[in-house]
Amino acid sequence: MKVIEMYQSVLDLVGLETMPEDSGIVYDNGKDVKKVLAGIDMDCTMLMLAKQLGFDCVVQHHPNGIIHPNGADLFSRDHMKKLMECGVPINVAQKLAYQTHEKRKQRVHSRNRTQMQDVAKLLDISNMAYHTPADMLAERTVQKRMDGLMERNPMCTVQDVIDELMQIREYREALEGQQPEVWVGKPSSFAGKIYVEMYGVGAPSLEEYIACSEAGVGTFVGMHATPEVIEGLQKHGKSNLVIAGHMASDSVGFNQILEAWEKKGVEVVRISGIV
Ligand SMILES: [Fe+2]
Ligand SMILES: [Fe+2]
Repeated sequence: MKVIEMYQSVLDLVGLETMPEDSGIVYDNGKDVKKVLAGIDMDCTMLMLAKQLGFDCVVQHHPNGIIHPNGADLFSRDHMKKLMECGVPINVAQKLAYQTHEKRKQRVHSRNRTQMQDVAKLLDISNMAYHTPADMLAERTVQKRMDGLMERNPMCTVQDVIDELMQIREYREALEGQQPEVWVGKPSSFAGKIYVEMYGVGAPSLEEYIACSEAGVGTFVGMHATPEVIEGLQKHGKSNLVIAGHMASDSVGFNQILEAWEKKGVEVVRISGIV
């Protein structure tokens, strides 16, 4: 496959017309791709390793090499949309999203934006990163399962949420200590409305969790959370937090992209965090 065809197949798979600003082609050497080395986190060392081992292309999930000047706008856009999905009023969603947007803008301003591309070019190896598209796929997959659970059992508990997650291979096969866990609430707590959050916002702030909780979310399912969020939600005492696990959740989405390429004949070797 050509790099551009692989790029298009990601858009088709997710049903997007344009690629999110944190994803896409870092470097395309124009050659056909037969063997891909893929990982959740990949850096210049991996480019070197891949070249030595005869791969044509390296693909990472975390957007090393793709730091778009307007990347913060993407998060702000998705951020507001997701808060509103939880039932947060538009005026509150806008203000919360703006606060996070400003913080992200400052971070993007200082980042090294050329390293991966420069090294890939010197080594003559193609490189791509797919972040938000993969996380969107993960979120859809997990939310669909949770919707099914709520429909089958409106009185479901947080333990039922965990059991449902464990039906997904990547969670079952996650490393010991990185499988789904209850971080706020108890296994016997009623789940209420379950909201899965795996893209766009990274780890939401405590203010955002509280706003969503006030708007009716009973159980959040996410990839990770800060100690501030955990303590804050415990103190707030109204909703539960299930942490599905970072590497496994990233893998749920990223694997769908890799499988789409495999179906078209590309050989993919998975390393660096992929479950
Ligand atoms: Fe991710
Ligand atoms: Fe991630």
